[in-house]
Amino acid sequence: MVMSSHPKAAHLDRMLTMEMARVVEAAAVAAARERGQGDEKKADQVAVDAMRRELNNLPISGRIVIGEGERDEAPMLYIGEEVGYGGPEVDIALDPLEGTTICAKNQPNSLAVIAIAERGKLLYAPDVYMDKIAIGPGYPAGTINIDASPTENLNAVAKAKGCKVSEVSTCVMDRTRHTKLIEEVRAAGAAIRLIGDGDVAGIIHTTDPDETGIDLYMGIGGAPEGVLAAAALRCTGGQMQGRLILDTPEKEARAAKMGVSEPNKAYTMDEMAQGDVLFAACGVTDGNMLRGVKFANDGIYTHTVAMRSSTGTIRWVDGKHAVSSKF
Ligand code: FBP
Repeated sequence: MVMSSHPKAAHLDRMLTMEMARVVEAAAVAAARERGQGDEKKADQVAVDAMRRELNNLPISGRIVIGEGERDEAPMLYIGEEVGYGGPEVDIALDPLEGTTICAKNQPNSLAVIAIAERGKLLYAPDVYMDKIAIGPGYPAGTINIDASPTENLNAVAKAKGCKVSEVSTCVMDRTRHTKLIEEVRAAGAAIRLIGDGDVAGIIHTTDPDETGIDLYMGIGGAPEGVLAAAALRCTGGQMQGRLILDTPEKEARAAKMGVSEPNKAYTMDEMAQGDVLFAACGVTDGNMLRGVKFANDGIYTHTVAMRSSTGTIRWVDGKHAVSSKF
């Protein structure tokens, strides 16, 4: 993150990747204690508290650019809040509990996530919707196009994969705004997986179709989640495009205030998360790629992925924390 060729700087970046694993572990364990309790707010709050506490133990001068909301609506981890006790100047995108409803219902794929990039390298996305399309690594550049129809994208993915459209599995959020999209995917003959929440996980799942059964993600979700997913895909490889949905003058003005000069722009993955990006996610509930937190008599078990775009290193971290630990 310090982006220097000095070996000590590279060492710091590597250390930071592992420290980020601790940050998401702390948030995931806190949220997991609230799994299934039906209280989304409480689950989110304890995750926020834990993540903030751990972030302030990091040797960074961090600034939240994607967080819990704008300062007047979020008391902690608000956009613009400074975290860390001093070090390289970095921008941070985070979601201490991605999938609050999933966690409150104890359903699959809720995560604690964070991405860190050099200052100014993450898209400052307002809390609006974003139209998204994503595939994992191994496809020729330009396989997907957010301006093409779902059928065209499904055909392009099938062609690049060398399979029939019926063998392309698409993940879409189960929302009425996606009725037409869902109909079109079905009419094209592709398999579809509807998810109730959690499109960061939905998009990350495209990076390992053998494990997750997802080749392609399409549809509208949160813009902050879009930036987090783009950061993850920058590390794993893959392709993603996103367009902010600024359908009122108020949203357009908010976006402009955050530096969005072209409201209709389709951002590529590299434009949403540029430069050297670090990303970490820890499972809160069991999921297709990450196991959820397990509370056992002999310890608290966590499952985390921590990765870095400049090296492409992906670390799967199995954590066992003492029951007596502050986690
Ligand atoms: P929260 O963790 O804030 O509850 O977000 C969950 C989520 O499903 C995201 O993954 C997704 O991007 C967004 O909500 C979709 O928003 P909506 O529920 O309004 O369709």
